Order: sequence, then structure tokens, then C-alpha cells
Amino acid sequence: MPNHLLEIDDLSASEIAEIIRLSNVENPPQVLRNKGAALLFEKPSNRTRNSMEMAIIQLGGHPITIRPDEVGIGERESAEDVARTLSCYHALIGARVFAHATVDELSTASTSPVVNMLSDKSHPLQALADLLTIWEEFGTFEGRIVSYVGDANNVARSLAIACGLMGIEFRIAHPNGYGFSESDEEAIRGVGTQFSATQNPREAVGGANVVYTDVWASMGQEEEREKRLADFEGYTVDDKLFELSSEDSIFMHCLPAHPGEEVSRSVLDSGKSRIWEQAENRMHAARGFLLHIFQEENQ
Ligand code: CP
Ligand code: NVA
Repeated sequence: MPNHLLEIDDLSASEIAEIIRLSNVENPPQVLRNKGAALLFEKPSNRTRNSMEMAIIQLGGHPITIRPDEVGIGERESAEDVARTLSCYHALIGARVFAHATVDELSTASTSPVVNMLSDKSHPLQALADLLTIWEEFGTFEGRIVSYVGDANNVARSLAIACGLMGIEFRIAHPNGYGFSESDEEAIRGVGTQFSATQNPREAVGGANVVYTDVWASMGQEEEREKRLADFEGYTVDDKLFELSSEDSIFMHCLPAHPGEEVSRSVLDSGKSRIWEQAENRMHAARGFLLHIFQEENQ
């Protein structure tokens, strides 16, 4: 141990393929029996908290969810001291944080694996569930096209890198000023991603197998909400835009969604929407990941 997961490219393509296989193992070995897992949250969560808690329980472990006021990372004590303390008791530390630097700091001091459960930069557990959903739909990755319409945020970054690792083309359409930073683009291209960016959603979505979007204002950007609503006008994934995608296409969204903003209610609820499969896959993919990192230790 440690086997930290701070961004999806902490895993190789073959490890991701193995995690996808492990996500479907029935009656999984109880690799976390008598072990604890500390799950720290600086921000709200529905899917991540519940899917992680249940995945840990399904592997025989005991999750302890910790709210921000209980530990006060960097306020009551430093991130490093929080990690040193929690790794005395727990086989795993999960953390949902505002600043990505916090998961870096936790990981430098922890003797247990640290899993990023969402930072301002990345959301690797979401990307694993997204890949599992794409795999279940198409049975293949190579040559598929994922088109993301919206803000080049944490979810988009991890998804883009995940796609590149698995041979999926990744396109993004975003308004001026809401694209990836140079270093993000370097990280995305660095894993060999076939990547393109445009300000024209129609161009990005044409012929895509997956049309993906996420909220325009992420947690921590609430005060920018009004400006963002105006800046993203014309970027809603509605029926007219979605129709341009491939015949076999599906719609994906990490959730929570804001119907009428980044996506229309009709697309969210359409027969091509896979949002609930994705949400359920958060648990299966998390369990697959935990099996992957803990099974060797138990052998
Ligand atoms: N997709 C996702 O991470 O959802 P939560 O914010 O509800 O955990
Ligand atoms: N980009 C969103 C994802 C929520 C799961 C956020 O960071 O708030």
C-alpha cells in the first residue's frame, strides 16, 4: 500500500480494464473485513457518499463518513496530520475537497491509499463509472466518440483522460473562456487522447456515440452562477442538438442535473439517457476499484 487514486491516470489502461471486470464480480471476496474506511467530505454528496459506503460494506469493511466541521482539514489540524491520524485506524481514506492540493497533501502523509472523491480538478471515481457504463453499452472502447458539451470542469478533465487511456476520441464544445487550461490539455493529450475543442456544439456532437454534459456552475462556483447561465446560452443539450449524434448514441450526465440549463428534461428522460445506469455504476465501479487495490494485499 499506498495505491492512491488522485486522478484517473494514476491507473493504466490495463488496470482500468481489470477494474471494469472486477466491477461485475458476484459475491466478491471480503477484502476489507474488519477494516475501516474514512470518507471525508468538504462538500455535499449523494452518489459518491452512498456508492462508496455501500461498496465498502459489500467488501466487508466499515465506512465512517466525516463531515467538514468534524475534522476541519487545514483549520483544526493540517491535512497531513489528519491523514497520519486517520491512517492509524483506516485501510482507506476517501476525500471530497475544494482544492485538489488537499488530496495531494493527504496522500503525502497517509500510509493508507487516498482516493479523490472529487476535487476542483478531477473526479476519477466518476470516470471509472462512466467507462463501465460505456463498456456495458457498446462492449468496446476503441474508436468510440465521446462529445462533452459544457464547462471544462473536474468531471470533463477526468473523463477526457479516461477516454484517451482507453482509445476513445474525446471532443469538447464550450463557450469562449470555459475550456481546459494549457496544463489540463497537456495531461489529456499526454495519454494519447484524440482530442478536439470547439465553440460549436453542433460540430462536436455530430456522429458522437456518447453526448455528455455536467452543470455549468460547479460546487464552489455558486456566486458565478448568473454570469455562467448567460455565458453558456446555446450550449443546452436539447433534442435538436442530440439528434445530430450517432444513431446508436446515448446521453450521459454525472448528476446532479439542472434540467432546462445544461440539458433539457426531454433528453434527460429519453430512452437514450443512461443517467441511472451511470449512477448505479458508481457503486459497482467503486467496488471494482477497491477489489483491485486490496485483493493483492490479501493474497
Ligand atoms: N456524480 C456525483 O459525484 O454525485 P454526488 O455529488 O451526488 O456525489
Ligand atoms: N462538476 C460538478 C460535479 C458534481 C458531481 C461539481 O464539481 O460540482
